[in-house]
This record gives sequence, C-alpha cells and structure tokens, in this order.
Amino acid sequence: MKDIKTVAVLGSGTMGTGIAGVCANAGCNVLLLDMDQAACDKAKQNLTAGRSPVVKDESILENIKTGSFENDLSTVSEADWICEAIIENVDIKRTMFEKIESLRKDGSILTTNTSGIPLRDIYQGVPERMQQDIAVTHFFNPVHIMKLVELVPGEHTRPEAIETLAHFLGTTLSKGVVNAKDTVNFIGNRIGYFWMLTSMHLAEKAMMEDNLTMETVDALLSSPVGFPSTGLYGLVDLIGLDVMYNVGKNLDINLPENDYGRRFTALTENVQKLYDQGQLGRKTGGGFYKLTRYDDGSKTMEAFDIVNHQWRNAQPHTLTDSEQSMVSLFNSDSPNGRFVSDVMATTLCYTADLVPDISNDIVNVDRAMKWGFGWKKGPFELIDELGAQKLIDLVNANNMGMPKMLQVLLDAGETNFYRNEGQEYLGTDGSWHTVPA
Ligand SMILES: NC(=O)c1ccc[n+]([C@@H]2O[C@H](COP(=O)([O-])OP(=O)(O)OC[C@H]3O[C@@H](n4cnc5c(N)ncnc54)[C@H](O)[C@@H]3O)[C@@H](O)[C@H]2O)c1
Repeated sequence: MKDIKTVAVLGSGTMGTGIAGVCANAGCNVLLLDMDQAACDKAKQNLTAGRSPVVKDESILENIKTGSFENDLSTVSEADWICEAIIENVDIKRTMFEKIESLRKDGSILTTNTSGIPLRDIYQGVPERMQQDIAVTHFFNPVHIMKLVELVPGEHTRPEAIETLAHFLGTTLSKGVVNAKDTVNFIGNRIGYFWMLTSMHLAEKAMMEDNLTMETVDALLSSPVGFPSTGLYGLVDLIGLDVMYNVGKNLDINLPENDYGRRFTALTENVQKLYDQGQLGRKTGGGFYKLTRYDDGSKTMEAFDIVNHQWRNAQPHTLTDSEQSMVSLFNSDSPNGRFVSDVMATTLCYTADLVPDISNDIVNVDRAMKWGFGWKKGPFELIDELGAQKLIDLVNANNMGMPKMLQVLLDAGETNFYRNEGQEYLGTDGSWHTVPA
C-alpha cells in the first residue's frame, strides 16, 4: 500500500475547499486548482473564517498551494491522489479527467467527488491506465464535520488503489469510510433523497387529507424517528430545491427501470411552483421557512403554506407523549401516526430491497445514513427497533413484493438484523457475521 502525501484538489468550491482543508490539517501537501486563481486564493483564506473554521491554525494554510487549470494543471504530476470536485456535470468531469491523464504520474490515484453520477459514465472509453486508477470518494458537506466518505471502485480499479484510499481516508483523515457500489447516488443519497422526495409527496397528501401542517411534519420527522431537528422541510431548505430538482432528474435517468423510487423523482406540483419562482431555500433568503432578523436583535420565523401559496407565522408543533417515539406513532391510528408509518414503512422497505444491489451488507448502509445524514440509527437498526415482523405484515397486507433483506431474514428464520448488542449482523447469506470495526 502506498502513502498519500501530496494531494491535488480540482475545484475550489464548497467541497473542493473543504477537502483541501482537511488534507492540509492532516499534514499533506495540497495543490488547490480552479478556473480562476483569485477564486482559489479567496477560498483558501476562507478556510480559517467562520464560527467553525475548517483550518484552525493559520500556519496550516502554508500546506496549500493554489493555481489555475489554465496555467498550473501540470502540477498534478506531483500528486499521489488527485481529487476532482468540480461542477456536477458528466461531460465536464470527463473532459477534466482526460486532460490530467497524460500529466499525472504512474501509480497516482484519481477520484471524483460526484454526488451520484455513476462512475462508469465518467470512465467509459478512457485509457486502461486511468480505469485502473479511478474511484469515487464521496465526501459529505461540510467536509470537516461530516464523518462519512463513500468509497466506490470502478469495474477495473486496482484493489491496491482502494486499499490505499481506505487507509488514507480512515486513518489520516479520520473519516468513516463506507464501501459502496457503483450505482446511482451510491448509498447515502440513494436512500436519503428517496426519503426526502417520497416524504414531500406523502406530506402533501397528509396536509390535504388530514390538515397536517409543515411544522407538524418537521416535528414528526425529527426526534421521534431519530433524524436531525431540521425534519423534512428544514432540511430541504438547507440543501436547496435546485439540488433536489437536479438529483430528481439524475434519478429519473439512472434509476433501474422497476425501481420504486421512480414514482417520486419529480417535485410535487406545489413544490415545483416554489422552484419555478426561485424560492429555493436558505440560499435565496427563504424556501419553506423564512427567518427575518431585525436591527433590535429580534427575529421572526415564517412558514410558506405550500397548498395555499402564502407566507404565515410559523407555529412549531409540540409533540404529545405518544408522538415521542417511532414505535408509538406506528401503533397509533391518529393522522400523525399514519403519516409517520407511511413515510417510515416506505423508506425502510425501499432500503431493505436495495441490499445487495448498492452495498454488500447492511452495516455499510446503516453507517452511511448515520454518518452522512445524521440519523441516530441506520435503516436496519430502525427495522429492529420497530420489529421486522411489522413491516413484513404490512408488505403482505398490501400484496407487495417482499424486500430482499426481509426475505433473507424470513428464510433464515430470524427476527432481527443485529444481535449480540449490535456486534453481529445478518448477512445476505442469512448467517451471522461480526460487525467490522
Ligand atoms: N455541495 C454539496 O453538498 C456536495 C456534497 C457532496 C458532493 N458534492 C459534489 O461535489 C462536486 C462539487 O460540488 P460543490 O458543491 O463544491 O460545487 P461548487 O459550485 O461550490 O463548486 C464547483 C466548482 O466547479 C468549478 N467549475 C464550474 N464549471 C467548471 C468547468 N466548466 N470546468 C472546470 N471547473 C468548473 C467552479 O469554479 C467551482 O469551483 C460536485 O460534483 C457535487 O455534486 C457536493
């Protein structure tokens, strides 16, 4: 296994700068390149800014050299690892890789930070040397805070390159490495965006049929199910409706033909109107929520009524005792309980059907959702909490196909996906395996 000491990061946007910062913190020599050297320099200086700076010690910035693609691309010849973090466009990424192929040294590793473009679409038709050295390293935003990095080999990637990356990411950068397969959106975004897109559809149904409010939806889809306090709409505001829209389009192109997620790739009609009018989230000063701060220090929070299309004062929902846990919500026949059951049963069954297609085991899936989306428990741990039999009964009652991992569990005569205090997990072969460190 080779050491990674010099890293070239292509792209000094949100992700590239974050990756450059964490590598510099770990003592690597970093080359940070972008279209325009001035933008790169500014991005480098910003690493020490803010309440939670990526780089705490100004002297660490000396580890980062900046440059432009036009003048300095040949410096990638010094790099052991070249990490591409430019715009999410397959043609632009391919062109960039083609340019650096003749410049990089033998044995160097190339990765893309794509959020979900299948790797094979990037390496198709490129020289064999490059196909052997390319992989996905998918960091999550903000890079210095989120533990997860998804590591995805291509069909021809050298095992040694993956081993080197896994060691570097896990040990030198102290990241949580999850092994994913080369499928659309990998693990975290495949499940996370399914959850968000599906929930927006189910939430609007519940708003129209049962008068649920956006604030109720967000309160229910946070602490009761162990998700971050942003809930659903607060999280979409943070991500941006433009990103949701583009992810939906990518899913539409790349999801397998019979994938259940296909029916939820488009935004709902009401949410599409927000997108069309540029009301995208925090980045545009408001999306589903709008926070206004006044000179006297006071602030107001408004919520956008997506059904009636108007702003009103936000009215946070206080959870009742029976709404405190996912299990009690599942057992309740209240509109709020039915909504949570709908969302969680759909999400958990979808996930249970994705293994082994997106991951060799359930552990990597659970880790991806905990480390990348801040879920307290991963989907399979949530199924254990709920009781797998409950989902199996629902699937049977609705005459649906049994999700693959639930079928594995049934065939093995088991009731849980983990045992021995989480130290063993049920494999796709129906037998028990030790959870790796
Ligand atoms: N922002 C996130 O939350 C996030 C999370 C994980 C992965 N990603 C992925 O990381 C990559 C970078 O995303 P980001 O959020 O840092 O984007 P960004 O918009 O902040 O930065 C994109 C960079 O690409 C450069 N760029 C634009 N057009 C280019 C071109 N034609 N040729 C070369 N460079 C060009 C820009 O100068 C900019 O520095 C994307 O593939 C994205 O999908 C983003």
